[in-house]
Amino acid sequence: MKILGIETSCDETALAIVEDGQKILSNVVASSLPLHTKTGGIIPETAAREQSKAIIPSLQEVLNQAELKIDQVDALAVTFGPGLIGSLLVGVETAKSLSYLTSKPLVPVNHLIGHVFANWLERESPPTFPNLALVVSGGHTEILLMKGFGKFTRLGGTRDDAAGEAFDKVARQLGLPYPGGPSIQKTADLTKTSAYSLPRPMLDSPDFDFSFSGLKTAVATLIEKENIKQKDVPALAASFQEAVVETLVTKTLRSSKQYRVKTILLSGGVAANQRLREAFQEKFTGEFFVASPALSVDNGAMIAAAAFYDFKPKPWSKVFSAPGILI
Ligand code: KG4
Ligand code: ZN
Repeated sequence: MKILGIETSCDETALAIVEDGQKILSNVVASSLPLHTKTGGIIPETAAREQSKAIIPSLQEVLNQAELKIDQVDALAVTFGPGLIGSLLVGVETAKSLSYLTSKPLVPVNHLIGHVFANWLERESPPTFPNLALVVSGGHTEILLMKGFGKFTRLGGTRDDAAGEAFDKVARQLGLPYPGGPSIQKTADLTKTSAYSLPRPMLDSPDFDFSFSGLKTAVATLIEKENIKQKDVPALAASFQEAVVETLVTKTLRSSKQYRVKTILLSGGVAANQRLREAFQEKFTGEFFVASPALSVDNGAMIAAAAFYDFKPKPWSKVFSAPGILI
């Protein structure tokens, strides 16, 4: 079954065609990132305007790359939420129009669940159940227990800033460009030391929750008090990255022990972080899955995969964008 996946929840206009939830036939990502780098963060209206310009050319391109006509696609899948409302509307209304015109089934997909399914793409042996999915993105940090397709229980998550959001905000404090995650990783790679002492918020709390806003404040205080100079930025970036990585890995491994789960799936934009990937590989003795960095950040293929494995189409008249729905 060939599914066209459409993802427009943040600043990307991402479309892909995936066969049987696994094989990527084509994948297109148009990003308005250069516009947001100038302003140091995403301006929702700019993102939505750019997406409305990009969506039809991207649709043409994704079909051309796969050498398919829209009638040869078996179903459509679209991110309905959570995300920026203007951005979501562009993808959802395009998908509804396509479903109306072609009579193809339309599957609405939750963005976070979409991220988890990046782990089923381009793999010979897919993840098994039960597993723990850590979703770490710009908007969310969630630990989910996955007992089967469509069977998710939320074990915990952030109480304030998401992990990616913390990377973005700390990068700005350090004078590094948006998006903060890749800039902090690159800057941290310039040094071997993570000498600054930073807190690991909620590391010892008995739940599976996180809090990253205090860590961000600790970095701001340190910059002010210690008179941080340009030459100190790599060590501070590395110290911050270590604090986030240690917190995420420790709590996820603890939840895997408590729930006796032997498989962990890492996903979301922050899953592209090399240190985080290495730390899970070093410390977790069970089976560890993470998609390539390109499939960890927002893309249409993960949405198509999620729709294939939990195929619940809805009539186009019943599909709506929802900015704040978790799982
Ligand atoms: O999943 P995603 O592409 O979009 C959302 O759903 O939010 O995640 C974007 C987030 C941004 O906060 C970005 O800074 C972060 O992922 N990110 C990274 C890396 N690459 C992207 N964080 C840490 N290290 C990276 N290499
Ligand atoms: Zn995302």
